[in-house]
Amino acid sequence: MEVAFTINDRLVSVAAASDTPLLWIIRESLGLTGTKFGCGAGLCGACTVHIDGERAFSCQVLLGEGLGSGRPYD
Ligand code: FES
Repeated sequence: MEVAFTINDRLVSVAAASDTPLLWIIRESLGLTGTKFGCGAGLCGACTVHIDGERAFSCQVLLGEGLGSGRPYD
């Protein structure tokens, strides 16, 4: 699937499997390595991002679940 979204005030478009965690999209596809991998289980907070102003653990958000604005992408 291909998804377009805004990150750090920049509109980006990425193509990846719908079950790819947002963490890996941010780090690997977009090269934003400030977002860290820790536990990978939603426990440590190393991967924390804000989605529409709400805290989210990016290791627990799948690309196919939607990236804000309350609507899934397909
Ligand atoms: S890596 Fe620990 S909460 Fe995401």
